[in-house]
Amino acid sequence: MIKRLHMVFCTLVMFSSHALAVAKDTLTYANYEQVKISHAYLDLAVDFDQKAVKGFVDLSLTWLDAEQTKVVLDTRDLIVFKTLAEDSEGEWHTVSYQLAKRDDVMGSKLTITPNFQAKKLRVYYQSTEKASGLQWLSKAQTQGKTQPFMFSQNQAIHARSWIPIQDTPAVRLTYSARIKTPKSLLAVMSANNEPNTPVDGDYHFVMPQAIPAYLIAIAVGDLQFKPMSEQTGIYAESYILDRAVAEFDDTQDMIEVSEDLYGEYRWGRYDLLILPPSFPFGGMENPRLSFITPTVVAGDKSLVNLIAHELAHSWSGNLVTNESWRDLWLNEGFTSYVENRIMERVFGSERAIMEQVLGVADLQGDLATLPANDSILYLDLQGRDPDAAFSGVPYVKGQLFLMFLEQRFGREKFDPFVLDYFNHFAFQSIGTETFINYLRQNLIDKYPGIVSMNEVNEWIFTAGLPNTTPTPTSDVFVKIDALTAQWLAGEVALAQLPTNKWTVHEWLYFINGLDRQMSLDTMAQLDRQFNLTQSTNAEIAHAWYLLALHTGYDTVMPALEQYLIHIGRRKLIVPLYKKLAQTPQGLAFAKRVFKVARPGYHPLAQGTIDEILLQ
Ligand code: BES
Ligand code: ZN
Repeated sequence: MIKRLHMVFCTLVMFSSHALAVAKDTLTYANYEQVKISHAYLDLAVDFDQKAVKGFVDLSLTWLDAEQTKVVLDTRDLIVFKTLAEDSEGEWHTVSYQLAKRDDVMGSKLTITPNFQAKKLRVYYQSTEKASGLQWLSKAQTQGKTQPFMFSQNQAIHARSWIPIQDTPAVRLTYSARIKTPKSLLAVMSANNEPNTPVDGDYHFVMPQAIPAYLIAIAVGDLQFKPMSEQTGIYAESYILDRAVAEFDDTQDMIEVSEDLYGEYRWGRYDLLILPPSFPFGGMENPRLSFITPTVVAGDKSLVNLIAHELAHSWSGNLVTNESWRDLWLNEGFTSYVENRIMERVFGSERAIMEQVLGVADLQGDLATLPANDSILYLDLQGRDPDAAFSGVPYVKGQLFLMFLEQRFGREKFDPFVLDYFNHFAFQSIGTETFINYLRQNLIDKYPGIVSMNEVNEWIFTAGLPNTTPTPTSDVFVKIDALTAQWLAGEVALAQLPTNKWTVHEWLYFINGLDRQMSLDTMAQLDRQFNLTQSTNAEIAHAWYLLALHTGYDTVMPALEQYLIHIGRRKLIVPLYKKLAQTPQGLAFAKRVFKVARPGYHPLAQGTIDEILLQ
């Protein structure tokens, strides 16, 4: 124990004196301490034949260093045709540039060298088929089958694969755009989307609020719009539009609850865009227009915490932004916490607690396999691809840390603190150190004797879970434990379990709690009784298939094959591929299915699965 405390202490001393002093985002080439982009104007044509966006970007510059004239931008797999710079008299000059060799993680540094401090730069360029931040779907790959679809996913460092930009969350800019598309398609962006925009292939956007490059977003497809309220509505292909409107009709309530807790929603409209099933995430908090996987349109609102989550980012993430990807927990931990507060108010505390327990179980699973360093909230990303360090840690450990503070201080002190935090840092990008200072001044020292800075530092800078970790318990789940035990002991029959009243959360808890060595007979019995192999709930199916792979219950294989071909959401498919890869037959099956599925996956998912099966 003493040894451990000593180690913690040394780590804390180390962090406070060195690591935090270096503010520079190591995942950008941009010289953003010398010059900042304040506005970007994108003038792009979306070319589905070549799978490329083509045109130019105008970058307005604010100089911070009077001596400097060069501008370094991030790019990845872009073709650059020409660079121009505007001088202080408003004259444009062709200027030289240099595109460096490609780095696998960072892409290619683009250095533009006018011999004066340019007011604006213009870069003529196009993206290529390789763009890691864009997915291009052919007609056949969409549900409607008649029109193609494309969408962007910039977080963490993929903006640079379709825009030459300062691709760091430390820089905030406003943007505007003119986007040309095939005439019958609609373009939407993380900007002002007017619900009744005529579909004519020529679209104009303005985003007047300063946001980091990872929040610039675009989608183009055969999209229809339906309002849910004055302020909210849904863009989707028509096959799913009505179902999505029904599923997410609590969105306006969620906004009101969030405003009540954390202050005004500052972004105007809040719309949802339902993407094709290949969207690699559950959701993405693109401002004014969250991007959403169709796999949460379950028919019973069981997975709408995803909407609460993306909406919550309108405060944590989009308003107050992590200044580097090391600080991701500031975005995702706060958001998971706020998400759960929204769920509690809209759907009741029973459900909110069940979601906490399921989150903690996922985190425990991650902690069991992650290297210790990756379980530290303040991540070490030096030289690493941020996608590779992605886990439940910034989410659930971050959420637990905030729950710890909430429980110690009480909501009457903690809620106003969080509200003030969002207002204080609104439209700024901040790092972990700034957060800690603010926390100390406005909570820890303000109410002395409740939480110590050592406790705070242990949460943020040490691996694993501190022993001050809250342990949420759900009465509903405790009952499931009891029933499961009775069934396994032969005291009640499967048919007697009150499953017709179970929610999706209870199903997930039940399935995830079953013995990974369960006999094939029992698996078959469960399947006969509950038809789990055919579940239409993407989360239940995922949990069941994973259990089936552990137990060797092969009956699921054809359904699993369809699942893997149809869905590209990484969280749902990656664990299945990983499990499959552990046995020779599993690996053979995975390789065969992946061959069919791969062309339909997003480049990010393709890359992840390539790595898992590469052996
Ligand atoms: N911003 C994230 C997605 C993300 C994080 C993309 C880091 C790239 C790098 C989004 O808000 C998110 O967390 N989505 C989750 C939602 C879930 C926790 C409710 C997802 O996609 O599963
Ligand atoms: Zn998030």
